[in-house]
Amino acid sequence: MTIPDIDLTVYPDECDAFGHLNQASFLSLFERARWEMLARGPGMDVFTRAGAWPAVRKTTVDYHAAAFPGDVLRFTQALVHHGRTSFTMRQTARRLKDDTLISTAEFVFVCIDREGRPVAVPPEVGRFMNARPSSRGETLRLTVNGVNLAVEVRGEGPAILMVHGYPLDRTLWQHQLGALTGFRRIAPDLRGLGLSDAPDLGYSMPTYADDLAALLDVLHADQVVICGLSMGGYVALEFARRYRSRLRGLVLMDTKADADSPEARKGREGAMQLARDKGATAIAAQMLPKLFAPGAAETMPQVVDRVRTMMESAPAKGIVGALGAMRDRADSIPTLAELAGLPTLVVVGEQDQITPPSMARVIADGIPGATYSVIPGAGHLPPVEQPLATTRVLAEFLQSLP
Ligand code: MLT
Repeated sequence: MTIPDIDLTVYPDECDAFGHLNQASFLSLFERARWEMLARGPGMDVFTRAGAWPAVRKTTVDYHAAAFPGDVLRFTQALVHHGRTSFTMRQTARRLKDDTLISTAEFVFVCIDREGRPVAVPPEVGRFMNARPSSRGETLRLTVNGVNLAVEVRGEGPAILMVHGYPLDRTLWQHQLGALTGFRRIAPDLRGLGLSDAPDLGYSMPTYADDLAALLDVLHADQVVICGLSMGGYVALEFARRYRSRLRGLVLMDTKADADSPEARKGREGAMQLARDKGATAIAAQMLPKLFAPGAAETMPQVVDRVRTMMESAPAKGIVGALGAMRDRADSIPTLAELAGLPTLVVVGEQDQITPPSMARVIADGIPGATYSVIPGAGHLPPVEQPLATTRVLAEFLQSLP
């Protein structure tokens, strides 16, 4: 069942003397949205039926923009943690007419009985809210760092954060999401791509990395292995610079460490113009021939079609933003030596035409102790071209970590 979004109107009696929705009224509206959501699912009496009352233990509210009388706010609800007796619900309020993010809030609940003793969360609530996002294959939509990001979370265990390349999305990791059992697999859509928000501005490697760190906070994933493919690798290197203490390991797949040359930067500008003028379809047509190992169109036409559709669905704003972020990214060559001590795997498709094995070798040679692995028969996209071999290499690396 899908968790229903709830639309609520702001009334004058909820506003202050300047006509802004008052901060205390937000709490009432968040609560109203939760009850309304339950009313449309397992029933408002779901807790009383189970003899378990949800007591709020902690509330965090971010007020992003003002709301006014007459505004209709759309509230979305997601369960971001589900323990035995406690759960955490994240709620977002956006103004319906212009999609402005108004507020985000997180509520930690503990279920108690009439004597105040902790009791189990009613299973019906968990089921309704697609409980344990970590164990089912649900795509969550979570607002972090000012944007709403789509993220797929599956399984339990040490976490691996998989970051797709350009202009792709989380579904690139479909096989790994399904098959890397024993690990908590987290695959987000970067801002501007897939189902995530595509703001007009605000694209850079540091912002992508900050988005991911905020997402991990919400998912309560303190320590992760980050695995980035191509542009995802640039993001992973930036993440390693900014959040090294959160990393148990690093996987750099079909990527490179150096910054764009002046010529490459010019190429980015041309692609940005193409995306603005002709949209994602033109970008997909330009990129597709270079993405796969030679002969893929004949040997794996469905895979090529899937990737084409993925690219053609990318919002033009997100494409332009990603191109600008790649153009302006820092040179990561000096970072490589600093990554000594962080278990690292460098993976590359044997026939990658965009970031060939020679570039992967530079990374592997630059990071003391890094492991280097070539995926036979793959081009720039091993996770979809050779999914079994790619998943196996990742699983071996993850299992080798202390
Ligand atoms: C990617 O696959 O993410 C991009 O091709 C990387 C790049 O253009 O540098």
